[in-house]
Amino acid sequence: MAKRTYGLDVGSHSVKLVELSGDKTGVKISNCAVKEIYSADQEFNLEGPPPRQVASAVKEVFREMKIHPWRARNVNASIGGPYVSVQQVRTIPLAPEEMESSLAFEARKHLPLDESEAILDFQILSGDMESSHMEILLTATTQKTFSSFVNMMKEVGIKPRIIDAESLALVNSYLLTQKVEPEEIYLFLEIGARSSKLTFYGSTDLFFSRDIPFGGHHFTEDIRSLRNLEYGEADRFKKENGIFFEAAAAGANGQPPGLSIKVARKTAQQSLVEEIRRSLRYYTKETGRRDFQRIFLAGGSALIAGLDTYLGQELEITVELYDPTDQLQLPVGFPRQLVPQLAVALGMALRQD
Ligand SMILES: Nc1ncnc2c1ncn2[C@@H]1O[C@H](COP(=O)(O)OP(=O)(O)O)[C@@H](O)[C@H]1O
Ligand SMILES: [Mg+2]
Repeated sequence: MAKRTYGLDVGSHSVKLVELSGDKTGVKISNCAVKEIYSADQEFNLEGPPPRQVASAVKEVFREMKIHPWRARNVNASIGGPYVSVQQVRTIPLAPEEMESSLAFEARKHLPLDESEAILDFQILSGDMESSHMEILLTATTQKTFSSFVNMMKEVGIKPRIIDAESLALVNSYLLTQKVEPEEIYLFLEIGARSSKLTFYGSTDLFFSRDIPFGGHHFTEDIRSLRNLEYGEADRFKKENGIFFEAAAAGANGQPPGLSIKVARKTAQQSLVEEIRRSLRYYTKETGRRDFQRIFLAGGSALIAGLDTYLGQELEITVELYDPTDQLQLPVGFPRQLVPQLAVALGMALRQD
């Protein structure tokens, strides 16, 4: 029987599960499921969903795919949110025994405090004791975030093989399926519900990842205030009509469409654009690179019609819906339009080590 591996992505709004099966003929996405954590009319909570609902959504994705979580070996799970950070840091040469404590100090600079210890994972990218410095890829989270995630998995009955950060999973979904040009800077924008994650990857350039506090929830909030709707209604409206309906209805003449016509304050998409611009400027300042070819758009909010075009026009960079599945086999009827939302789970499922 073909070997199966699973990638599980527990987000702020929905849970995604991807099953891969591999044999001589190649790798196939043999199954997938997406379950929303919130019920239809329940309001989104920026502090995170009720843990019990998270656990039941995780159970449901397994149930939908007819898998017993405790029987599934090879489950790789991603962990994300504001308390998870992945940064490339430059340090003086560190001996193995001083790595942990020096990096814990470094990690603290990138993590919001939640009264618990930082836990770390790191990878030396370049340098040794003889070099002038070391480049280290540092992944950090807080003990509290990590324990509650592990406890939730335990409750569901999952023994994860690998737990890794979301932004690395997304980059891995590319590295493990596509040809990587050594000179290119790859940009990934994953727009979830609570926030968006912008990640820069270059095989010889700085890895940089940043959480931008605007996402699908903020699009829904704009619609709610604009149209005086309940949260659930606004969310449904968003999924049916997108967020550019006002401009479309008015037949905007070449202007970037948006809710800005009626909303006096900045719209979520304008704030998002501003924050992306800031990050692009920062990256250019740090590395001298400004030759960004394109941005891959992922996450559930990537499914909003016209968002890729809007971002492309505003940022003057090609923005394309992320789909790294060209080397994978897909079953007949596979919901290809969900690939951007499944990308993190796919990246986790592809991990072999
Ligand atoms: N078809 C769609 N059209 C517009 N927005 C969508 C659609 N599907 C999902 N979303 C939005 O995407 C967000 C969820 O994306 P996801 O990447 O799963 O988030 P997270 O990883 O934070 O759980 C929600 O805000 C949801 O409303
Ligand atoms: Mg997500």
